[in-house]
Amino acid sequence: MTLSRRDFIQVAAAMGASLAWGGRARASATNWREARSLYPEGVASGDPDPNSVILWTRRPYDSGDRHLLTLEVAEDEAFHRVVANAAAPVLAAADWTSRVLVGGLKPAHVYWYRFTDADGNGSRIGRTITAPRPNDPRPVNFAFVSCQDVNEGKLNAYRRMIFEDERAAPADQLGFVLHLGDFIYEVVEYPEEVKSRYDRTIYDVGRIPDGGQVGHFHFPLTVEGYRTVYKGYLADPDLQDARARWPFVAIWDNHEFSWQGWQSIQQAGGKSRPGQSIKVAANQAWWEYLPSRCKKAGGASWEHFEGPAVANVEIKKWDENGLGDEPNNLIAINSLKGYRTFRYGKHLGLIITDQHSFHGPDPFSDDSLNKLGDWAAFDGWFPEDLQQVLDGGRAFNGGNPPAELAFGDARIPNPQKDAPPQTILGAEQKAWFKDQLKHSTATWKIWGNSQGTLDERIDPQNLPAGLLAKPWPAGFVNASPNDYGCAWMERGEIYDLVRDAKITGFAIVSGDRHSFWAGYATSQLPPGKFEPVGLSFVGGSLSSAGAMEALEHRPRDKFPLRQLYLVDRAGSAKPDWTYNMLVKHGVRSVLEYAKSFDRERARAVSNPELSPHIEFVDAGGHGYAKVRLTGDEMRTEFVCIPRPVTRSDRPDGGPLRYRIVHTARLWSPGERPKLTQQVLEGDPGLGA
Ligand SMILES: [Fe+2]
Repeated sequence: MTLSRRDFIQVAAAMGASLAWGGRARASATNWREARSLYPEGVASGDPDPNSVILWTRRPYDSGDRHLLTLEVAEDEAFHRVVANAAAPVLAAADWTSRVLVGGLKPAHVYWYRFTDADGNGSRIGRTITAPRPNDPRPVNFAFVSCQDVNEGKLNAYRRMIFEDERAAPADQLGFVLHLGDFIYEVVEYPEEVKSRYDRTIYDVGRIPDGGQVGHFHFPLTVEGYRTVYKGYLADPDLQDARARWPFVAIWDNHEFSWQGWQSIQQAGGKSRPGQSIKVAANQAWWEYLPSRCKKAGGASWEHFEGPAVANVEIKKWDENGLGDEPNNLIAINSLKGYRTFRYGKHLGLIITDQHSFHGPDPFSDDSLNKLGDWAAFDGWFPEDLQQVLDGGRAFNGGNPPAELAFGDARIPNPQKDAPPQTILGAEQKAWFKDQLKHSTATWKIWGNSQGTLDERIDPQNLPAGLLAKPWPAGFVNASPNDYGCAWMERGEIYDLVRDAKITGFAIVSGDRHSFWAGYATSQLPPGKFEPVGLSFVGGSLSSAGAMEALEHRPRDKFPLRQLYLVDRAGSAKPDWTYNMLVKHGVRSVLEYAKSFDRERARAVSNPELSPHIEFVDAGGHGYAKVRLTGDEMRTEFVCIPRPVTRSDRPDGGPLRYRIVHTARLWSPGERPKLTQQVLEGDPGLGA
């Protein structure tokens, strides 16, 4: 689809960008000289299509409330062939950020851009790339990343990504970076209050004005607070370099708004408050700092967000789909629409969803569940079969949910018997998503999803007697965080559609879990039917601490089942991460490994019923993932770096831990997808 100039103006207006139109190349007419200090957050580009891309910068001024910069877009880095030249307004009301949608560009083309103020002070030069046409048969390369906590770590992963991309052949270079959320962590620690957490040094990312606090975490309650965090994060040089090298396509996860928040409810450390104005503020700051095609509500201005006025009112009523039936809530969660599609050549149809703005009430936290079992005695484990009942609510078992839940000898009334089934997407977004999936004509239909979808399972029913204080009655444990790993009903609805509509090339890329996973999208696992309809990947965090780091710091006297998670090996400074083996192979493998440290012997007693959906897991990995799509293959490479506690001073970002590739041939309708695994470098650990 090629937009006419008039269509293009309407598109720019809807998303709140100024616009520029590409034309005949001429030499630069500005007196640009680089003055990076006046553009402290650098430059960025976002959401490319075959003819246009959004370009971004921030140029703060001491006085006035509106200034004009000149944007130049060129075909060469020296700006001898400038194809677009436009005024780029910066407003105090948008925290001095600027977005320009540049149209009339050539598909699959590298461009260079820069901003210049009235005095000739210039931004750094950015590089961006337009999308290929929808019929372009060439391979598609992109990276997916998530969870860049710079309060507690460094972005050596971006340095590595840049280093390798600069040296790659043009056909192998990344077209864009898919950012799957936690671009910021709104919960900020201050180094003068807390020096370290786990292995991490607390780095300064700013002080939040008028914020809230829980423990050592300060969090924003106003747009100024969120802006402070974005500026603190964008001071990171590796993040700036990455944004200046590739267009980013982004969706928020939880931390762009609130740690445990959902819809417009702000929640941190378990304490919640009505947060309609906080959700609008979070959306405004995201819109200001991440250039995207996301549509903002109301306000015709291209130059600033004009957030709708809302009151912070407690939501007391929920509709039959779990949507908070309160007018301010509806205005707040619709003030910026994150879900969207993105076509990139013949082979990639990317469908991006929002996992937090429409998420229904949590079905797993009713107080009565504590009467069912002494969960602490089981290390917090909870039986999967009961969790499935809670997830399904009134729709469980074809609309016949059990009246009671039983565990051992204990019984409680089913607290979700009359509740709607759990939803992450909400009814409206889910209908949209299914429609997009059905109608995508790309070879690969990739679900860009901030949350993991693979079940994280444990099989304590196979533990030898005596290891637990009380024996586990029966059945598997589902240890997934609250994501699609325990959203059986909703993901089943989606996967059944994929199966019934005979959709091939379905794959999920996600983040949030701070760990690497490769496997299969399946509604159920044994003893249910294992029926993979697609592939599913989770990328490790760029920097945020993961489960293994937390477990290493758990006091031994409060960790009776430690050997299932970590095993000390003579002569080794750090314990082996048996948790990866626990999730993929089961308790028998881990207990064998703890005795013999022999991976082959341990794998020989793997439980085939536990995780047929997992080919690989590393709950301690950091880094990024690279995807290559062709007409007959999806290749996903995990590039894993050591725990990024300090910034590497090496140009390549430091050493690698491992590089592992999972490849699947495109399958025919009705056929099962199958991954093959290849370790290219290093040791990927016990979850292979
Ligand atoms: Fe995260």
